[in-house]
Amino acid sequence: MIMTAKSIIIDCDPGKDDAIALFLAMASEDELDILGITTVAGNVSLELTQKNARFLCEIAGRPDLPVFAGASSPLKLPLVTAEHVHGKSGLEGIEVVEPKMPEQTRGAQQFFIDTLSMAVEQSITLVATGPLTNIALLVSKHPELLTKIKQIIIMGGARLEGGNFSPSAEFNMVVDPHAAKIVLNCGLPLVVMGLDVTHQVRANKARREQIKNIDNKVARAASALLDYSHMQNNKRYAELGAAIHDPCTIAYLIKPSLFQGVECNISIETDSPLTLGHTAVDYWGVTDKPANALWIDLADADGFFQLLNERLERF
Ligand code: RIB
Ligand code: CA
Repeated sequence: MIMTAKSIIIDCDPGKDDAIALFLAMASEDELDILGITTVAGNVSLELTQKNARFLCEIAGRPDLPVFAGASSPLKLPLVTAEHVHGKSGLEGIEVVEPKMPEQTRGAQQFFIDTLSMAVEQSITLVATGPLTNIALLVSKHPELLTKIKQIIIMGGARLEGGNFSPSAEFNMVVDPHAAKIVLNCGLPLVVMGLDVTHQVRANKARREQIKNIDNKVARAASALLDYSHMQNNKRYAELGAAIHDPCTIAYLIKPSLFQGVECNISIETDSPLTLGHTAVDYWGVTDKPANALWIDLADADGFFQLLNERLERF
């Protein structure tokens, strides 16, 4: 059966795992037609996330992919970044040089408007692997364009896994909980991949070795980024290996059978200082709130790494 490639826009905050998500997407042209990459402040500042996105496109041999800078801070809160996880550059573990490809003169919102207004109904998939600021601005300022969006795949949130940036909140959600609330209530088909599934996808030693054996510069970059993650937190990760979050969104689009989930309501805390950004996932349907997302909570981790390796081999 001939599959047509899904038209996607990747909104990201590179970031080590965002980098691997971009590599996986760029190596999957049969399944994914990347219309553009939009960047948001998150792991590091917007200045660095947009530079990193362009740098990653260049080392992957895709200087043609347009990168559009988006929001430099959350909707209401001051920006909180994660240099302690991703390093000062956002891509600690590899040397980031100034990209030759230019940053687009249009910003992310104008790119959204131009692309969606020309698109066929329900034809474009948004993939969000950073705080949801850009997506929330699109949803709130251009509701007339939402009919062009098929679905939004989000890396974010946590249920049983608690939180990785506060005891009860995952990073992307806690950086901009007000944006996440807008997106969770936008009415579009959402697939949410939180820590409950990404913590099953661990780059343990054997898996890191397999990637290390792939002889091309993209795989070497991915391997270095994974090694840095592990080195940074090996006391916490020990044998398990670091979870690689963002590539799960791309793998879901390429091979959804690698994952399983449950349609349920996901709400988010936007006020409490203690639990800001907490995603209340009504997994057992104990409220009368209608389901607003497919909450993914099961991954075939071996199948994921088999796919990742096979695609990294392509560079
Ligand atoms: O909590 C993990 C998420 O936060 C990932 O998207 C990672 O890149 C950081 O942005
Ligand atoms: Ca990210």
